[in-house]
Amino acid sequence: MKNQDSILIFGSSGHIGKSLIRKFTKNNYRVTAVTRSIHRKGYQIKTQSNYGYLALEEINSFTEENVSKLMESSSICINLIGILYEKKKNHFNLIHSDLPSLLSKCASKKMLDQFIHVSALGIEEATDSNYALSKLDGENKVKENFNKSVILKPSIVYSVDDNFTTNFMNLLSMLPIMPLYYGGKTKFTPIHVSDFSNIIYEVVKKKITGETLECIGPEVFTFKEILIKILKSINKKRLLVPLPFFLAKINAKLFQLMPKPLLTIDQLKLLKYDNIISKKYKTNYDLKMEANKKFEEEINRYSYNWTSGGQFSKKIDK
Ligand SMILES: NC(=O)c1ccc[n+]([C@@H]2O[C@H](COP(=O)([O-])OP(=O)(O)OC[C@H]3O[C@@H](n4cnc5c(N)ncnc54)[C@H](OP(=O)(O)O)[C@@H]3O)[C@@H](O)[C@H]2O)c1
Repeated sequence: MKNQDSILIFGSSGHIGKSLIRKFTKNNYRVTAVTRSIHRKGYQIKTQSNYGYLALEEINSFTEENVSKLMESSSICINLIGILYEKKKNHFNLIHSDLPSLLSKCASKKMLDQFIHVSALGIEEATDSNYALSKLDGENKVKENFNKSVILKPSIVYSVDDNFTTNFMNLLSMLPIMPLYYGGKTKFTPIHVSDFSNIIYEVVKKKITGETLECIGPEVFTFKEILIKILKSINKKRLLVPLPFFLAKINAKLFQLMPKPLLTIDQLKLLKYDNIISKKYKTNYDLKMEANKKFEEEINRYSYNWTSGGQFSKKIDK
């Protein structure tokens, strides 16, 4: 028996997943959160919900049988599984294309009400990036497999829990000079994780299907502008130096050797393309799903962790 208010989330332990569990359980939805390791991720997931609204499921092998079994008692499935770089057996095609294809096929066979797949913004032009190609391929397969799918394409999603602003806060705290790739001119439309979770919540509430939506925040910034805002927020001064492409490539080659790479060659290629709406699809604003949170205001709420002396030593700019 399917429960109308029951949501199955793959990739639930991640940045967006945790925020989404809070949003849905607070609004009386029952969530089944899927993770590859309850032992490692369970404590992070469990604390996101009220008692009684969350169930945890562990899955290590994504077979049609295993996935279909998980879909038995939910009417909506959300896929948040994604990787930023390839490692060992975790290839972009497997994670961003084969897996969403399997999930959407199962969703169709199990006759779910909705399958929501989170892809990415700004990937259409980036034909030299394997990340972008695999994400696009995944979108196409999901659309082919299940007509009750919704593809969401967010720009950078940020919060205190992200891998973007917090990484730059770390780097800018440590390095005296910060390289600017492509002159720092690439444009982004960052969206706060709670605004993005609200959009997913609205997509479920309004029972939207068969749509592709680009999801953006209220402001457009260049990479350089983002770094300047972060520097202001952590109260530090650093040299931002445009890096010629051949040096940026060497930089990325070195960074991608790290266990958790700060930058890979593939990410460097992707950084060349603006992360703004393509005008090919509707946006969250077209569907009256506003994203109101302002970048500078939001990062100021957590940047004190990176200021010298902590929260109460920070100068308040007026
Ligand atoms: N954050 C952004 O700025 C942003 C922007 C555009 C698009 N997106 C897309 O939005 C989705 C969610 O992003 P996020 O920031 O929440 O990602 P995240 O924090 O990296 O979390 C992704 C989750 O995917 C699961 N996962 C990772 N590798 C896996 C694998 N090999 N097999 C199965 N599961 C795996 C992990 O869950 P377990 O370890 O618990 O299994 C992880 O918690 C991704 O598809 C991402 O590409 C994110």
